[in-house]
Amino acid sequence: MKRLLFAACLALLTANFLPAADALINASARQALSLNGRWHIIIDPYDNGYFNYRHEPHDAAKNPTSGYFLDKKPATPSELIEYDFDHSPSLMVPADWNSQDDKLFYYEGTVWYRRLFDFTPHAPDARQFLHFGAANYEADVYLNGKKLGRHVGGFTPFQFEVTGKLLPSGNSLVVRVNNQRHLEAVPTVNTDWWNYGGLTRDVMLLEAPATHVRDYFIQLKSGSRDRIAGYVQLDGAALAQKVKIEIPELKISTEVTTDTAGRAPLDFALTGATLWSPENPQRYEVIVSAGADRLAEKIGFRTIETRGTDILLNGKSVFLRGICLHEENPLRGGRATTPEDARLLLGWAKELGCNYVRLAHYPHNEYMARIADEMGLLLWAEVPVYWTIHWDDPTTYANAANQLTELIARDHNRASVIIWSMANETPVSPSRTTFLKNLVVLTRSLDSTRLISAAMERHSSPEDPNTSIVEDPLAEVTDLCSFNQYIGWYAGLPDDCAKAKWLINYNKPVIVSEFGADALQGMHGDKLARFTEEYQENLYQQTLPMLEKIPQLRGMTPWILCDFRSPRRPLPGIQDGWNRKGLVGENGTKKKAFFILRDYYAKKAAEAAR
Ligand code: GCU
Repeated sequence: MKRLLFAACLALLTANFLPAADALINASARQALSLNGRWHIIIDPYDNGYFNYRHEPHDAAKNPTSGYFLDKKPATPSELIEYDFDHSPSLMVPADWNSQDDKLFYYEGTVWYRRLFDFTPHAPDARQFLHFGAANYEADVYLNGKKLGRHVGGFTPFQFEVTGKLLPSGNSLVVRVNNQRHLEAVPTVNTDWWNYGGLTRDVMLLEAPATHVRDYFIQLKSGSRDRIAGYVQLDGAALAQKVKIEIPELKISTEVTTDTAGRAPLDFALTGATLWSPENPQRYEVIVSAGADRLAEKIGFRTIETRGTDILLNGKSVFLRGICLHEENPLRGGRATTPEDARLLLGWAKELGCNYVRLAHYPHNEYMARIADEMGLLLWAEVPVYWTIHWDDPTTYANAANQLTELIARDHNRASVIIWSMANETPVSPSRTTFLKNLVVLTRSLDSTRLISAAMERHSSPEDPNTSIVEDPLAEVTDLCSFNQYIGWYAGLPDDCAKAKWLINYNKPVIVSEFGADALQGMHGDKLARFTEEYQENLYQQTLPMLEKIPQLRGMTPWILCDFRSPRRPLPGIQDGWNRKGLVGENGTKKKAFFILRDYYAKKAAEAAR
């Protein structure tokens, strides 16, 4: 393990990744200039802006300027420049490019974005940071012709400090975004979702005092319902100073002094609080102040733990009535990216009677967890370690570890997030299990308060095809035994559910992290006719009693809330590039199976209330 970890750290340094998780916490609460809006673009399928004709990067060490597509005009009529952002097309930011322009629908390559902005600092000694909610899949960022750096990974925030590099007017921000898939990437080349490219989340110029609060972790101590544990981390020159934490509604005000590294542990009583739950998503305003910096946000406090095969929320047994969802607004098409998108998707989950949602298969935008906090939905969050990842490649591990670190750093104060998931449907092998067990060790070192899982797989025994076995060495180190199963769709027919037996030898809570069937909304027929709503309805009717036979069952997230785009689903007239396992069609209409699951969850909720 040490060898892999050392190699991973080396890879991190040589793969010019950003230092993991240096993004400012609670970005939306800070002094900010939004850089959302229309950006001019240049579509660059041969990446000429990044490589010269010898395929050498323009911005290699010997020439640390931006790529070929600098935002400059010919100095003289004879100067040859073959690009001009001002007269190029534009795209909205934040948004994927695929859903904005038919010419980019299947596009995988480089798009150069450029936006000009003026800037006046709010305080003479303030510091400035360019903050990106995410860019899929890799981003090279240039300011006023100079490269700031690169980020790899399509779904987590990153930032660059630009203090002292800004002009009062006409700052030129150029970003190369490339969404090409690679075998050694995370995810790898094959996924069952659309490879939406672009500046898919908010872009902001953040300001913070010279010494400011960069990060804080304020949650209930593991196993305690009345004591806060965590830390606060400053950044700047005056690192050792007093930091105040206030929760006015609870009349809590405590002060700590950070050490010379700017860090201080937090450990104080949380008396009189109403604990957060889906039924009562109570949040409190928490204020963190240090010197000239003052940050506030609403935080919910709850405990989540397992005891044997039970999951306990605030010490009380909970059954996770869930649903999976992709980060896609089916009505508009394209990446879900706004608070309105989050409310639409989570609103449908609430209509279903859910208290829990699996945010598949990658970190979703920050609005999802913040709005889940507000609406009262528990969340499973995951990184795109999906299917056939290159388990032996240290750069791949460093990438996965970096994405996981950035996800945890962003959402570790969200009461809704109760599970960090390491992977989805990854074929068992020694190198895969080492890779994932290392991610588990990393996750526990970053956050000891949440549960760890992964969507594992079942297989049937050779002797008896009706016996499903869940046996995965990774389950030895996760808190939950979660697995996907598709009896009745990929394995046999719905009637086979009644014959199914389960062999799951773990004294742990079991969550069935996927099951489902495709149905074209509005297509009706016999319940054994594939792609009809009746087939999907029948599969749900047969699956639910089958899963109830699993004694350790403590939750499920059927696949999936809404139909979603996938290049793997071409069936003309039925799929047309959509995976149709949604309980809600691409037009927002609910299918018959939606109501089967809704009634089942109503029954489970009534049982829990008794
Ligand atoms: C798999 C996978 C999903 C996929 C689904 C399907 O289990 O985890 O990403 O979309 O099955 O085949 O529809």
